[in-house]
Amino acid sequence: MAKVTVAELTRRKAQGQRIAMLTAYDYPMAKLVDDAGTDIVLVGDSLGMVVLGYESTTPVTMDEMLHHAKAARRGVTRALLVGDMPFLSIRGSTVDAVRNAARFVQEAGCDAVKLEWRQGIEDTAKAITDAGIPVMGHVGLTPQTAAAEGGLGMRGKDAETALRIIGQAVALAEVGCFAIVVECVPDEVAQEITERLRIPTIGIGSGPHCDGQVLVLHDLLGLYERFTPKFVKRYASLAPAIRDALSGYLRDVRSGAYPGEAHTRRMAPEELSRLRAELGPAR
Ligand code: KIV
Repeated sequence: MAKVTVAELTRRKAQGQRIAMLTAYDYPMAKLVDDAGTDIVLVGDSLGMVVLGYESTTPVTMDEMLHHAKAARRGVTRALLVGDMPFLSIRGSTVDAVRNAARFVQEAGCDAVKLEWRQGIEDTAKAITDAGIPVMGHVGLTPQTAAAEGGLGMRGKDAETALRIIGQAVALAEVGCFAIVVECVPDEVAQEITERLRIPTIGIGSGPHCDGQVLVLHDLLGLYERFTPKFVKRYASLAPAIRDALSGYLRDVRSGAYPGEAHTRRMAPEELSRLRAELGPAR
């Protein structure tokens, strides 16, 4: 299958073909996600919660993101690989933000970066696209600033905030973003954004009218048990399956059932005799 490009995603929107995006943070999972035929793999800063065990995404650093983006890169050959710019990477000067975006491309081999909406972020998004790096925007619930904005709930429930979010999406499209993640807004708001933009919208918790959908891989697989948002559809329950496998291993080691005959290698008899002759009797 041909490698997914930004141009291909724009074509998909024009032809009404839906786009499937997932997160991944390491080589084996990224390879599974890519092999399954996913169009966009996001090394999300959700890394902080579902892999690194932080309480939120804000503590995630550029170095942590790059470490995981490099691992995901080794597993992804077909999908468009997007690196998520963490909280502090876009808080300083525009020059610093462009430099951080460039690190995702140069050091980790990402094809694009994603950045969350905040006041003035259009200028940063423009500077990064002007530097030749494709940018995906993110509006609605923006987890990096969620605590300051009243928590992880739905955004855009009233006309005034809905208008604001639609305006943010339009502004990001105008400065050259190639796609926009629309997180946790009412169905109608996601539909308005999708109909107004020529670039694809990728929904998460925003109903069926976006051009594509994204989920956090650990939510979809039932691997992250601390908290599961209501909009998540679980396609597997891997945490209980892993727990079962681990208890089996512990039981077998403690009872001596593992390693058994099938997992044991023996020396050739003549080598064993030579070894014993050299060693002499044990004291
Ligand atoms: O960090 C992340 O995983 C994200 C997706 C939920 C879009 O931003």
